[in-house]
Amino acid sequence: MVSTESLTAYLLDVILSHLLLTFASLLATVAAICWYIRDSLIVDGLSHKYVFITGCDTGFGNLLARRLDQKGFHVIAGCLTKKGAADLASVTSPTLKTLLLNVTDSESISRAVEFVRREVGDRGLWGLVNNAGRSVPIGPTEWMQIKDFTKVLDVNLIGVIDVTLQVLPLLKKAQGRVVNVASILGRLSLTGGGYCLSKWGVEAFSDSLRRDMYHFGIKVSIIEPGFFKTGVTQLDLIEADLRRLWTRLPQHVKDSYGAAYLNEYIKAQDFFMKFLCSPDLSKVTKCMEHALTACFPRTRYSAGWDAKLLWIPLSYLPSSVSDFLIDMLLPLPIDERMN
Ligand SMILES: *[C@@H]1O[C@H](CO)[C@@H](O)[C@H](O)[C@H]1NC(C)=O
Repeated sequence: MVSTESLTAYLLDVILSHLLLTFASLLATVAAICWYIRDSLIVDGLSHKYVFITGCDTGFGNLLARRLDQKGFHVIAGCLTKKGAADLASVTSPTLKTLLLNVTDSESISRAVEFVRREVGDRGLWGLVNNAGRSVPIGPTEWMQIKDFTKVLDVNLIGVIDVTLQVLPLLKKAQGRVVNVASILGRLSLTGGGYCLSKWGVEAFSDSLRRDMYHFGIKVSIIEPGFFKTGVTQLDLIEADLRRLWTRLPQHVKDSYGAAYLNEYIKAQDFFMKFLCSPDLSKVTKCMEHALTACFPRTRYSAGWDAKLLWIPLSYLPSSVSDFLIDMLLPLPIDERMN
């Protein structure tokens, strides 16, 4: 048995002989506690605040609208379809208002902003959540035509910019917040097509917006989800679209990939989506809620274990590492196999 005195003497000895280490650990602990307290401070009067969310038909936007409604926010939920709007309205309180919004149509945005302006009155708008997005067409770059890129960029990037510019005066009035949904695919281009480009664009737009609006009291946060089960990762949609891209390719291009390539590529996507996609969308909406309710919202939120432990760390490593990993996950074109 070790006596208490000898243990105390031993600890004292360790502390004295490692003064610098002890001091550094203490400092780190205090810093972590301070950061934690600062991070948990919540703003006052949330129930009087208005939040406008785009893309509320399904997925993150839908869940966020329902959760903020339960918390007592005045939610204005933009939906692309009448059905999406009706379904959401049927499961939420009468305080939540839905409206039809197509973010690729400037006039549709103007009408939505006019509605928001009337709702919020002199209070201004506390939160704008740019959530609406689409993924397809995704696939090998060579299979794309320019329209395949613009289709996605129009929604995910130009749509975000258009909505933000039109809503900015209302946000300024309330010294509110912008929450933009990017992706880990805004850090790593794992696939061809417009999706990754659009999300890199959202990252860049949000960074400049944050710096430009900071002095007016507007805070901007970026959400970087990993893979989640939403309309964006719906395998049947992705698969059907890959078949469409493949079918219209000239024969010599198909030959260079080999007849089996399409099915192997689809199988790889299938594996990706089944293995990686989390069904727990609340991991993402919790980040959005923090960005809207914390006194000190973070600049970036990564959501999901794959984002935190795999994709974001991978994005800091040399490209050769990510190239190697992606290469392992995707099939090889036939030309490459013969070498
Ligand atoms: C959205 O607006 C664009 C541009 O006006 C239009 O081409 C598209 O069909 C609209 N989408 C829906 C679902 O209404």
